[in-house]
Amino acid sequence: MAIRTASKAKNSSGITLAVALAAGVRQFACQARSFSEGWSREMPKTSFITTAIDYTNSPPHVGHAYEKVLADVIARYHRLKGEKVFFLTGVDQHGQKVQQSAAKAGVPPAEFVKEITQKFVDLWKKLDVQYDGWAATTDPLHENCVQGILQRLFDEGQIYKDKQAGYYSVRQEQFLTDKERGPDGQFGPEWGQVEFREEENYYFRLSQHKDWLLSYIGNRKDAVIPDFRQMELRNAVERLSGDLCISRPKSRLDWGIELPFDKNFVTYVWFDALTNYISFAGYDPSLSALNSVKERGSNGALRSQPSTFLDKWPALQIIGKDILIPAHGIYWLIMLHAIGFPDDQMPQLLVHGWWNLGGAKMSKSAGNIIDPFALIEKYGADALRYHLMGDITTGQDADFSEERLVEFYNADLANNLGNLLSRTLNMALKYSNGKLIGASSQALYKEDYRGEPGTGPLGNVIEWQVKRYEEGMEAYKPRRGLAELMVMGAQCNLFIDVHEPWKVARDPSRTKDVNEIIYALAESMRVIAILISPLLPRAAHRIFDQLNWKMELTGKEERFSLVDAEWGTLPDGHVVGKPVQLFPRIETN
Ligand code: MSP
Repeated sequence: MAIRTASKAKNSSGITLAVALAAGVRQFACQARSFSEGWSREMPKTSFITTAIDYTNSPPHVGHAYEKVLADVIARYHRLKGEKVFFLTGVDQHGQKVQQSAAKAGVPPAEFVKEITQKFVDLWKKLDVQYDGWAATTDPLHENCVQGILQRLFDEGQIYKDKQAGYYSVRQEQFLTDKERGPDGQFGPEWGQVEFREEENYYFRLSQHKDWLLSYIGNRKDAVIPDFRQMELRNAVERLSGDLCISRPKSRLDWGIELPFDKNFVTYVWFDALTNYISFAGYDPSLSALNSVKERGSNGALRSQPSTFLDKWPALQIIGKDILIPAHGIYWLIMLHAIGFPDDQMPQLLVHGWWNLGGAKMSKSAGNIIDPFALIEKYGADALRYHLMGDITTGQDADFSEERLVEFYNADLANNLGNLLSRTLNMALKYSNGKLIGASSQALYKEDYRGEPGTGPLGNVIEWQVKRYEEGMEAYKPRRGLAELMVMGAQCNLFIDVHEPWKVARDPSRTKDVNEIIYALAESMRVIAILISPLLPRAAHRIFDQLNWKMELTGKEERFSLVDAEWGTLPDGHVVGKPVQLFPRIETN
């Protein structure tokens, strides 16, 4: 018997069932365009993935959680493909805001950041964010690296001292320009007290590299993804003028890294924070040749770096939309260029959108922060990960909604996948004592395949969906990956409804057919577990455990691997376990 969904797969409008399901399971914005080009550039041995490092002036909120889970999913997906991965995340511990928050709390900044840092560490543990490197900017290793880079740039004349005179906002701790004036020519109330000041500081020759940056962005189409962000960056670079103030006098800010060439100053914000991406990857500023024109573009300035660094760099850098311009798109790329990184060693910037609340930006001052700890407590880590990955398209903004979290968890995880697993295992136990006998029928599934892509025997449907899942994940779109998994689950549930195994089982002449049905479902669940593992690692383990699929039979150390998502891997004679509710429904009242 050829078990197929194709025969009943046409609905009245003639659309194949798989396509209808893909559209209907959930309104996923599955953009066809692929972001994978960047990934297919010649890859270093280790895939290096970074996130922004979070300010430690206040505890993490759901926006921080989103970015780290996104990076974790991408990192896990690359591990699933068998790549070596170095996933770096961490905390930005210096600066004005931290110094102020610590003063308000009446504790020294070092003590204050320790406490907040712990909250981030705790959250990543609860959310299964599995990083390989932890970037905390008070680490002496990092401080030395920042100082080494500053010294080099100073020695090369890239950093100079200058006096700035102008209007200064005491509240925002910054000099203001005419751009900050309102239509009435005055500085608005958001700036608080504004006074005229004169201050000496150190400056980095940013504008000297403007033409280089324009040409780099012009030559590399996927320097920033999505591409509308690259366009924004290009426009911003075209308007770039002036240099970057990189210091604060200690009289004003002392919670920072001291300038190696002037003890009266600390470096301010970006030179400290951005350098984390290389300092924690093993970059050694004392090893690279000075930034001579001859070295540029030839990789010469990097050649002397430790192999641990060269093995990782360049990175895929995941950041929020607010810190592309100017921080990462301008300051960071120019900093790297100035210390001799050639164009083909520039990182790629993946820019995500923001979770808002009721259309408004989440902020501590507006009092509309969503606490991820509370959500995990209430719904569990899987539910939060699912919502953060499933309800936002990478690059776009979305509105955070607890109602949607519950609604989609129940519909997709509890009703679709959870139900499928329990139906499958219950039938296996009932009709064949849990024993699978149907692997040999896989040729039959394939041979019989005549339908359109995504239709036909279940094995073909799954194979097709695996490809679509991969497309989504390669494009850094976990939402699309999840959507394809939900289509798989829905197809399998439909397969059960169409073939009504409970009726087939009543006919003693059709034992082989029942076995084939059960095998196909258990095998689909195994594939789903592999593919869902980057997104919901705990659930993936639970599925494997219930399938009783320990992996030692295959002799592999890694439990989940993309190459194992091939149809027909479960051997005949394998005995599945008993069902335990995979995703208990969330009851809201
Ligand atoms: N410390 C700097 C980054 C330095 S990177 C060298 C910083 N920290 S932050 O804590 O304000 O933000 C950290 C990351 O969280 C940023 O990428 C930011 O875009 C992201 N998000 C902050 N709020 C967010 C949402 N509401 N939604 C999604 N991401 C959000 O900037």
